[in-house]
Amino acid sequence: MFSEKDLYFASEFLDKVVKKVSVMAPEIGSNFPTTNSRLGTWDPKGETANISSWTTAFWPGMMWLMYIKTGDETYKKIAEGCEEKLDEAFNIFKYIHHDVGFMWSLSALADYKLTGNEKSRDRAMHAATILAGRFNHVAGYIRAWDHSSMKWAIIDCMMNIPLLSWASEESKDPRFRQIAEAHADTAMRCFVRHDGSVNHIVEFDPETGEVLATPRGQGYSSGSSWSRGQAWALYGFTLAYLNLGKREYLDTAKKIAHYFIANLEPNELPRVDFRAPTEPIYRDASAASIAVCGLLEIAKAVPEFEKQMYERAAMSLLHTLSENCNFKEDELRLLENSSSAYHSPLGMHMPWIFGDYYLLESLMKLYGNDGRFTIHK
Ligand code: GLY
Repeated sequence: MFSEKDLYFASEFLDKVVKKVSVMAPEIGSNFPTTNSRLGTWDPKGETANISSWTTAFWPGMMWLMYIKTGDETYKKIAEGCEEKLDEAFNIFKYIHHDVGFMWSLSALADYKLTGNEKSRDRAMHAATILAGRFNHVAGYIRAWDHSSMKWAIIDCMMNIPLLSWASEESKDPRFRQIAEAHADTAMRCFVRHDGSVNHIVEFDPETGEVLATPRGQGYSSGSSWSRGQAWALYGFTLAYLNLGKREYLDTAKKIAHYFIANLEPNELPRVDFRAPTEPIYRDASAASIAVCGLLEIAKAVPEFEKQMYERAAMSLLHTLSENCNFKEDELRLLENSSSAYHSPLGMHMPWIFGDYYLLESLMKLYGNDGRFTIHK
């Protein structure tokens, strides 16, 4: 159980975040901010995501959370504008990938859950059908991208498969759930290591499912431990447990959480890679905000006497995140010090929209209503 002091801190923090996002919203409108490294401000015309980018739904997702918190229709309209523009990614199609889960869960599915809009339901179902179509049923994994090898799956996909759970519930067709479960089982077997660390990428033989390699991905090296990948796995297996009900997914999420917590340094953001050399020091705020979401859900799922460790870690990370927020109203950036990848110096220690989204989602969980855009039971 959180103390009154913790809850007071979280509520004050949420108020400050909501105030800041209310300043950003009219500036950004129905666009797709990703980062703002160059200009020091969100630039709706310049530094916005490609319409097929995996990051496009984090801003509309934030707008839906703002709508829940404030009831202000302005946020709903901005989110709806983004959702309509996203149809272009369906139309182009050839740049589509497994991150349709992120893209349409936090836009169209959020809309459908909050408003019952049937067109939004159809968009989410269309995205789920595309995701299911990427499943290799012999090898047991969902293919990540088209621009890389057809042999690759990545740990981030644990965050996409909740859309399949929703599609099964919605359509009463078990195939979506069966695919989600098969992919999660493969991820548990082939991505999660014995100590709770995870591979970012696994390369499979698409004819047999044999593991061929574990390429480096966004971390320091093959065999290292990219902290955002750890966070995707921590939250993703928790969501798999909540949506699919298998106890092993919760046990896996807990194991990953224990590894994650053990690698944190007091009052610091996670390093970009927990197994990189001690110098230089690169940190990633987004790994922290994603992990907090997972830790808060694990804490709700475990018996009373187990909760404390997860709650304490979540609260400690939230304090560190609050020290990394920019609340100046003339600078349109919220969470500082997220990083795209260990070997991407240009993407290091900057605002990235997914860091902001999961920060707001985590605070909305503590507020008591995060919209449950990826939890469907
Ligand atoms: N691959 C998505 C990410 O950067 O987390």
